[in-house]
Amino acid sequence: MQFETWSKGMATLEVDCLVVGVFEEGQLTEEAGAVDSACGGRLKKLLGRGDFPGKLAETLLLADLPGIRATRVLLTGLGSKKGYGRKAWRKAWAAAVAALSKTGVESTALALERPDAKELDDYYFGRAVAEIAATGLYRTNDLKSGKKPKPAALGRVLAGPVARSAAEKVSRGLTHGAAIAEAGKVQRDLANLPANVCTPTFLAEEGRALAKRHRSLRVRVLDEAAIRREKMGCLLAVSQGSAQPPQFIVIEHVPSGKGARSGQPVVLVGKGVTFDTGGISLKDPPAMDEMKFDMSGAAAVIASLTLAAALELPLRVVGLVAAVENMPGSKAVKPGDIATSASGQTVEILNTDAEGRLILCDALHYARRFKPAAIVDIATLTGACVVALGHHHSGAMGNDEALVTELVEAGVRADDRAWPLPLTEEYAEQLKSNFADFANIGGRDGGALTAAAFLGKFTQGMKWAHLDVAGTAYQGGAQKGSTGRPTPLLADFLIRRAGL
Ligand code: BES
Ligand code: MN
Ligand code: ZN
Repeated sequence: MQFETWSKGMATLEVDCLVVGVFEEGQLTEEAGAVDSACGGRLKKLLGRGDFPGKLAETLLLADLPGIRATRVLLTGLGSKKGYGRKAWRKAWAAAVAALSKTGVESTALALERPDAKELDDYYFGRAVAEIAATGLYRTNDLKSGKKPKPAALGRVLAGPVARSAAEKVSRGLTHGAAIAEAGKVQRDLANLPANVCTPTFLAEEGRALAKRHRSLRVRVLDEAAIRREKMGCLLAVSQGSAQPPQFIVIEHVPSGKGARSGQPVVLVGKGVTFDTGGISLKDPPAMDEMKFDMSGAAAVIASLTLAAALELPLRVVGLVAAVENMPGSKAVKPGDIATSASGQTVEILNTDAEGRLILCDALHYARRFKPAAIVDIATLTGACVVALGHHHSGAMGNDEALVTELVEAGVRADDRAWPLPLTEEYAEQLKSNFADFANIGGRDGGALTAAAFLGKFTQGMKWAHLDVAGTAYQGGAQKGSTGRPTPLLADFLIRRAGL
């Protein structure tokens, strides 16, 4: 998709469709007013008849208005002028994209009233225009055997009105927004795949393919033997019940600038459980299919590395993906078994369904060799986090308050929010074991935090944060599918760290 800016003269823009905003009070925005004048007051007439109440995210497509170069005008409701802001603007633009995607419109210029700069500055305006447009055209990579529906015609979007002095910032935003949407697509395409296709080996192949597509990316895959040499006993305990061999994928973004190449990297660690049956502590059948999304953290890491490469971020970024399948095979790990992690600490596996932390702990330990400036793990880790925060916020925890705050603020700017949970030292006490250094579960209460406390035992001395995305990375029900979260949050975090 192509993105540009426009500055003035809507009526003469060479595009197929103008997207103009109308408030609920029947008021035209400034730009809509200009379109109205150009076509001899037809819009005001239409509003006067009560044909378009301007309800938020409602749209009406008009054709062949005289005096206007574009062959269509899409009226888009902005809701009430009172309290109009970024959120309403986002909804309206998303609705316009959805409406346009069902038409033959190939190019469009948008002129919805821009929220004030405090809510959405020039850069984030550009970013949101591109991100929402490209995300809105995303179609699930389904495996339906029927004829594929035609992809949307929309291929060119002009954001505006943009003053000349702001054009550079908006353009940068457009570039970043397009890259974020592209990364989101990478995550969603991987996570939506069924687990019989998206195995640990498949993820490793995807990793290897990345290095061919992006010059800045170096990829290395540790196979089962190499994982054994790294003494990742906890990771191996999870994968031993599956016929699918585990894979440990290391993706490095090495920026080309000399200065940028040296610094300490940001390390991202992803939970890549390609299917989580629970193992011997087998899950209940309802919605178990959704456990194919249990590799969403891994997909977000892969997506973020493609973003770092696409934007040529002047920042070293390392992605670590621990990919396994959690199955109840005859060789499966059993409740009460004790595994030795790569760090040397022993773990009593009281519940084989608490497997995410077992693979992550070995991945977090592996990260030490990179001497990370910051390490962030991303995991669909606990149902308890979903109980605590629902589906709106990811849970943010860690051992470094500044880093957790940095991520939370990135989530606000990216409209991909996370909320801090209190990872104080008491939670680790719930992990007591009579037979090993600690257990892999700490009881039902505070489950998101005992899981994080477990990870905390492997990150001492590193600046570490943990994002629990169990409630945000995918949707169930009729809208079942990957959401692409928290890739926008991670993108904002990386872009800022890179100083762009
Ligand atoms: N993958 C699940 C967590 C999960 C649950 C993600 C629901 C998305 C939706 C994880 O491996 C798991 O099973 N966690 C257990 C931990 C428990 C056994 C301590 C859980 O949350 O029930
Ligand atoms: Mn599990
Ligand atoms: Zn899991």
